[in-house]
Amino acid sequence: MATPMAVTANTSLFSNLPLSSSLNRSTRLFFTSLAFSPTKFRLRPAAPTSSSSSSSSSSSSSSSPATFVDTNPTNSIVAEEEKEEEKEVKQSSNLLACPVCYDSLKWTSNPSLSVDTIGGSSLQCGTCQKTYVGNQTHLDLTVTTGAKSYGEPMSLTTEFFRLPLISALYERGWRQSFFVGGFPGPEKEFEMMKGFLKPVLGGNIIDASCGSGLFSRLFAKSGLFSLVVALDYSENMLQQCYEFIQQEENFPKENFTLVRADISRLPFVSSSIDAVHAGAALHCWPSPSAAVAEISRILRPGGVFVATTAIYDGPLALVPFRSTLRQSARQVSGSNFFLSERELEELCRACGLVGFKCIRNRLFVMISATKPS
Ligand SMILES: C[S@@+](CC[C@H](N)C(=O)[O-])C[C@H]1O[C@@H](n2cnc3c(N)ncnc32)[C@H](O)[C@@H]1O
Repeated sequence: MATPMAVTANTSLFSNLPLSSSLNRSTRLFFTSLAFSPTKFRLRPAAPTSSSSSSSSSSSSSSSPATFVDTNPTNSIVAEEEKEEEKEVKQSSNLLACPVCYDSLKWTSNPSLSVDTIGGSSLQCGTCQKTYVGNQTHLDLTVTTGAKSYGEPMSLTTEFFRLPLISALYERGWRQSFFVGGFPGPEKEFEMMKGFLKPVLGGNIIDASCGSGLFSRLFAKSGLFSLVVALDYSENMLQQCYEFIQQEENFPKENFTLVRADISRLPFVSSSIDAVHAGAALHCWPSPSAAVAEISRILRPGGVFVATTAIYDGPLALVPFRSTLRQSARQVSGSNFFLSERELEELCRACGLVGFKCIRNRLFVMISATKPS
């Protein structure tokens, strides 16, 4: 490559954590994340079924397996309560949250985050009572899901990627063309970001604005994460991702799920996520500050945000009237192309993330920042 990768002065691609402490941390993270993910409950040998997990929420049930037997049929209040309970939650621990209330969603059927079974799933918000259901490819956790006539156009850059043709072309030549601007390509980018993700390996990861899931699939196949959520606003991108997965042999589907959501309204419980990756997406978001603030909200203390985008300083800094041009482009398209390194650092800091690091190669930049512990 003509221009060597430049790492900014205050950064080191490889964390200086001693191996032993990093392993201990990963192990701890893995067990901590078990408490959040229903998928991992399913991996246990004697995993409870949906009905038995319902029984675990009933009081004083540990001594008898017959949790649902009404021992006092004359007590109509108890019977009523039990009926209500049956209608309601079947499983309570969940990192998915209602995009309206941000409260944890409860599974009302098929508690599973596997891409294979999400189609039969439904979840409900205990606060606003809104129900969210999975279709064949993904779980729709947008605010407007279920609305019959109300629709809201998003910014041009968001709507653009919803087009079937663009989604189909994306991984069939389009993404490869980023090489011209200095993007090293998915495999190399993945290798680079592993350095930033070292402290959170073994935890869960959201691939935010995953597109057709080229990184989500690498994360899943690497086995380095306990759960991978591929998230995008574009139904067609998610469909592409689903189809790529179906074509792959031995893809680890049980720890992988597809979610449709807006980056500015992330459907996850606060402080529940170990890592968020956003590849080549920050410049497409209508409001990077709203998006990064959301990412910061869902990251647990010590959680890592890593993103790539095209950068504005370097040769582009010489373009005359660049600020005016950029402002106009932003107003027309709603996109935020070519922020400078300094702006990216300020953006992270403004959203409560610390320890900004970056690696650059021509227009390409990979940044990372951490939620304070
Ligand atoms: C250039 S693609 C990046 C895909 C992939 N991450 C990569 O590294 O190639 C940008 C993605 O951002 C998504 N996107 C745009 N606006 C969004 C929004 N408001 N919420 C979530 N995703 C959005 C698009 O649907 C598209 O898939």
